[in-house]
Amino acid sequence: ELDRIPHPPHRLPLLGDLVGASRRTPVQDSMRFARQLGPVFRRRVFGHEFVFVWGAGLAADMADESRFAKHVGLGIANLRPVVGDALFTAYNHEPNWQLAHDVLAPGFSRDAMAAYHPMMLDVAARLTDHWDRALTAGRSVDVAGDMTRLTLETIARTGFGHDFASFERSRPHPFVTAMVGTLSHAQRLNTVPAPLTPLLLRRASRRNAADIAYLNRTVDDLVRARRAAHHDGEGGDGGDLLDRMLRTAHPETGERLSAQNVRRQVVTFLVAGHETTSGALSFALHYLSRHPEVAARARAEVDRVWGDAAVPGYEQVARLRYVRRVLDESLRLWPTAPAFAREARQDTVLGGTHPMRRGAWALVLTPMLHRDPEVWGPDAERFDPDRFDAQAVRARAPHTFKPFGTGARACIGRQFALHEATLVLGLLLRRYDLRPDPDYRLRVTERLTLMPEGLRLHLEHRTPAH
Ligand code: HEM
Repeated sequence: ELDRIPHPPHRLPLLGDLVGASRRTPVQDSMRFARQLGPVFRRRVFGHEFVFVWGAGLAADMADESRFAKHVGLGIANLRPVVGDALFTAYNHEPNWQLAHDVLAPGFSRDAMAAYHPMMLDVAARLTDHWDRALTAGRSVDVAGDMTRLTLETIARTGFGHDFASFERSRPHPFVTAMVGTLSHAQRLNTVPAPLTPLLLRRASRRNAADIAYLNRTVDDLVRARRAAHHDGEGGDGGDLLDRMLRTAHPETGERLSAQNVRRQVVTFLVAGHETTSGALSFALHYLSRHPEVAARARAEVDRVWGDAAVPGYEQVARLRYVRRVLDESLRLWPTAPAFAREARQDTVLGGTHPMRRGAWALVLTPMLHRDPEVWGPDAERFDPDRFDAQAVRARAPHTFKPFGTGARACIGRQFALHEATLVLGLLLRRYDLRPDPDYRLRVTERLTLMPEGLRLHLEHRTPAH
């Protein structure tokens, strides 16, 4: 069934398609292969054959929930030892998925988001204090590092009432270091034949075990403190994610999350809730700094919608339509969770041409889906937020823009991420002129997620609007 799917020309015995591939950049290598091989292709790594889909027609077919479902494989499966059956990594049949989904979904409702808004503003003020100091001192800022500080503090504060004090540290919080270690390790495991991992990755595996232990310890402390607060009759007021996990029974079954599952969910949310949003903000700031005309238009919108308000209200964030397009366009070119996997629920034929057995699966390679010239035109590589104006979006086929995945297992934090990122872009545009380093060329680093590498910006007080 795979015979008709093209693969790279230089296939090595045993090793597979390693020519022209690096362990550090599996996504960008796949993007290159995609351009050579077309809308569906396969790569073999140590005897395992992986199918990649990125043509818009095929990807839309895979979005059909009656025939396809999420597949937990590759990088995500490699995270199972850390987070097991928590939301992101649960197999579809595991009962804890539905339970946790139903218990936590209200934590992402409109009301919940409105309650997070003032906390998001507090955290954003710590970022602008930090950037004001850099500006005064004439220092450039480390964009990805600071966006990670911001998004980690935001999810920790809104979800768990916790403060990592990221802005008071010159180096990343050890939680972030351990997380990056774990994500990188999960990616690395795909590049070594499983039987050889004990041999080839012995040191790395030991370090990974220490990283996981650190993540768990951090979370256990946090949960213990909250349980103690509950015991003393405190907390539970705002109904943040942690309160929901510890106190909410399923509305129909009355079931609750086990202590082990709570730990896995907290780790999941602390990681999933900040790493990808940080990348999205960083790419958006890169493009804003490179496209002054886009930045000017976005800022004019912020001024119009927010006026003289010292801080924007909740409703005023969703009204930043153009800023949101900048974000969408950044997520189009660099969807920071760059692939998701889909498996056939029954024997089926993908796109009417590729037979798939029940359980067979393929990866949707989002950065290439988002550049399919049939959908996005011959200039698909060009940054242009107007691709997301209402009319253009209406004219486009469905399932062509998928930065948050698809179907029942799509991102639960989508609105959270969009609100946070739009708010922060608005605040930064209102306050600073962003000047790029003219010699910088975008480099993208991979650790399951995508992130600009070495991106620094110079800040200036904004020039007054005319
Ligand atoms: C799932 C992307 C922000 C929590 C996903 C998936 C994608 C994604 C592609 C589906 C993965 C798959 O099909 O295997 C993103 C991007 C974000 C973002 C690009 C930011 C720009 C967030 C935030 C949170 C979050 C802020 C939490 C506050 C989750 C969880 C899942 C998920 C828990 C698993 C959902 C389930 O299977 O039930 N995300 N995400 N994400 N995301 Fe996000």
